[in-house]
Amino acid sequence: MRKLIVLAAGKGTRMKSDIPKVMHHIANRPMVERVIQSANPKGDAQVVLVVGFGADQVRDYFGDRVVYAEQLEQLGTGHAVMMAAPYIEDEDDVLIVCGDTPLLTAEDFLRLESAKKDGVGAVIMTATIDNPSQYGRIVEEQGMFRAIVEERDCTPQQREIQRINVGTYLIEGRLLKEALSKLSTDNDQGEYYLTDVFADAAKTTRVATVDIDPEHMLGVNSKQQLAEAERLLRARVCAQLMADGVVLKDPQTAYIDPEVVIGRDAVIYPNCHLIGETVIGERTVIRENTTIECSIIGSDTVIKASTLLEAQVGNHTSIGPNAYLRPKAKIGNHCKIGDFVEVKNATLGDGTKASHLAYIGDAEIGAGVNIGCGVVFVNYDGKNKFRSVVGDHSFIGSNANLVAPVEIGAHAFVAAGSTITQDVPPEALGIARGKQYNKENWVKKH
Ligand code: UD1
Ligand code: CA
Repeated sequence: MRKLIVLAAGKGTRMKSDIPKVMHHIANRPMVERVIQSANPKGDAQVVLVVGFGADQVRDYFGDRVVYAEQLEQLGTGHAVMMAAPYIEDEDDVLIVCGDTPLLTAEDFLRLESAKKDGVGAVIMTATIDNPSQYGRIVEEQGMFRAIVEERDCTPQQREIQRINVGTYLIEGRLLKEALSKLSTDNDQGEYYLTDVFADAAKTTRVATVDIDPEHMLGVNSKQQLAEAERLLRARVCAQLMADGVVLKDPQTAYIDPEVVIGRDAVIYPNCHLIGETVIGERTVIRENTTIECSIIGSDTVIKASTLLEAQVGNHTSIGPNAYLRPKAKIGNHCKIGDFVEVKNATLGDGTKASHLAYIGDAEIGAGVNIGCGVVFVNYDGKNKFRSVVGDHSFIGSNANLVAPVEIGAHAFVAAGSTITQDVPPEALGIARGKQYNKENWVKKH
């Protein structure tokens, strides 16, 4: 079986945070989740998270999607993997990654796996960089991997080596377990070094190395590096979207998560935040200052300066400016949701319009309905929420209140300013407001 061990026990002192380092977000997900996504894209490996500082926060987030190995004291990377050893079988292929390198790509991991040919017992991910001083060096003899040596344990000659250890490995379970049992703390830091596992394995098997783009190995140790990782990940997402035919007016201010799917010729204006599992259809235009989270938007639709959360919008529809679509808002095709309209847990049929200043909550609204300015679906009595129904092609006059639960029939009218508390039958006019009378010459008398 495939196992993925993620080292996530570190506190990350330089983050100056009460949140464990690996739980800090990169593009709206904890960086450790980004690592797992790339390392285990098909989700077929068992994931073992080695947790320590802030373990509860990690467990709360991942629940039983992964298994946990607790490392109570941080005695080194080798010690961290020892904690996960009970989950490892001899015949496993074990991938080991650090939880704080969120820029490694799925392709990087695929390359690691392809290097694990017959006769190769382990593969080490490496990079070649100008300033290797913070990393373990890859020491080779006659072109064969021999050892990883940390900066502080290096000879002056080894210090010159520019090929470094990224901290990501693939190794057979049997080799790993054997080598772990032999680890010692005989080094400058007095820690159990995971890296020594590979020097040991190299005595009995071939250990291969795979060099990756150094930009991918950025490790996050500070808030500065957190921002840098986020910037690089976003740039990568934007480049892919443009390659796929999406227009980004200003990639620098396009905040688009890797999960977002956007159709060809869609146009994204500056300062839009497209978050989570969002889908945007072809040719749809997202105007500036829009936030869309976990929503599905059709094709040929326009959204202006609005906020959409877990909403659904059809094709050829216009939303905003300044509309607010909340969870379970479901807007059909050829609809219009105008300025300062809020929709929550409500379905609007095709061609329905709410052009200005309305609250539509807990409602089932048919097709071709006109909802006037200032209409309120009064859905809450202080204790319970109730649902209202509006039939096809009905007309709700401006400033009407529909006090739920109430049903307006098809082709019915509600007079402007009415407070509707009883059903209105199909094709009827519902009118519920005080009658107007004018006091003649009132001004003169006063
Ligand atoms: C390690 C490697 C080094 C490599 C570098 C890449 C060793 C001995 N050295 O060094 O060759 O170039 O990573 O970044 O492995 N962790 C635990 N428990 C521990 C210690 C660490 O969970 O007891 C976790 C940390 O939270 C971190 C990761 O392991 O996510 C790496 O640990 P770190 O101390 O940063 O390793 P380096 O000393 O940088
Ligand atoms: Ca260290």
